[in-house]
Amino acid sequence: MKQKGRYGQFGGFYVPEVLIGALEDIEAGFEQYCNTSQFIEELDTLSRTYAGRPTPLYHAKRFSEHMGFEVYIKREDLLHGGAHKINNVLGQGLLAKYMGKKKLIAETGAGQHGLATSMAGALFGMETKIFMGSVDVARQNVNVHKMKLCGAEVISVSGGTCTLKDAINDALRYWTAHIDDTFYLFGTAGGPHPFPMIVRHFQTPIGIESRQQCLDQLGRLPDKVVACVGGGSNAIGIFSAFIDDPVVELIGVEGGGKGTDTDEHCATLVKGSVGVLHGAQTYLLQDENGQIHETECISAGLDYPGVGPEHAYLKDSGRAVYTAVTDEQVLDVFELFTRSEGIIPALESSHALAWLVSQKGKLSKDTVVVVNLSGRGDKDVSIVEQHRPML
Ligand SMILES: Cc1ncc(COP(=O)(O)O)c(C=O)c1O
Repeated sequence: MKQKGRYGQFGGFYVPEVLIGALEDIEAGFEQYCNTSQFIEELDTLSRTYAGRPTPLYHAKRFSEHMGFEVYIKREDLLHGGAHKINNVLGQGLLAKYMGKKKLIAETGAGQHGLATSMAGALFGMETKIFMGSVDVARQNVNVHKMKLCGAEVISVSGGTCTLKDAINDALRYWTAHIDDTFYLFGTAGGPHPFPMIVRHFQTPIGIESRQQCLDQLGRLPDKVVACVGGGSNAIGIFSAFIDDPVVELIGVEGGGKGTDTDEHCATLVKGSVGVLHGAQTYLLQDENGQIHETECISAGLDYPGVGPEHAYLKDSGRAVYTAVTDEQVLDVFELFTRSEGIIPALESSHALAWLVSQKGKLSKDTVVVVNLSGRGDKDVSIVEQHRPML
């Protein structure tokens, strides 16, 4: 990255004048506090004793037998709250505290980032507002209840498609009027600078631990590292430690929705074109006039027409490969993985697992694939039941 907040041509901060100062304050706070020994120690203690780091690297033996190659699972699903989102939230929540902020706001899709932020609000004693599209409020209602139990206010957003994009629009709008006392705790490695840099930073433990665990447990690096991509935070968290290891292939898997080739309503990196959304230049799902497409994907956390700028850069540079799987493939592997391992994967994470199934018969039996299991699927059980009713 040559220029501040830029990943090649991607990134930047295309925001209204009023937010520039607030974003610069966050960047200055990050630089002032996040590398101090006090901050590092406090975050490390919380990561261990509150969130449950380090997470194990688990050899999924029965699933490996089904696939015909070796599958290792990075168990971010075991973290407090049920997903990797807590890594970023503890870091940014602590930063907000060091910066003297009293209020948190956040957007959420699947509700995992909203829940993690609500937990941080309770933990740090801060008033918390969560913006969530009304479609997501309905399909992820267990998480909505949990957020409220933590004391957060959940604001149901009814503009546009009533999903993550619209929740971000409203959160940004609210922030412009409340920048003095409110910290916008952004949930993914996207949006305007400095969020992609900060979120990446707080998600890097996923990759650092995985790399070391491969060396300790297997005596070598994996052949492939696979993660689902919504905005891109869990993927960049695990990819970051392997980017300088050219022998390790990096694969990001997007939501392909119903999966027709002509469907332009899903899989941003696979089907999108370059434009500006939510403060960053990146790949987007848009029409020829720059109007953002509505997205449609079974998993709320991947239902987003943009993507973090570093992934756009990794795609164009060829260092990572991005692909998409359909809702049906996701439902199939959700069942297969749960029955093979007794672990219920989040629908988001099931996208990464579904890519493995597409490789069955194509990889040699000693190929080692590490999958980032970004979250657990308890929140998704009723959605799966609607599509695949159990007898
Ligand atoms: C479990 C889980 N995995 C993945 C994602 C996608 O987000 P990201 O691409 O930022 O990791 C979400 C988003 O809500 C999620 O809840």
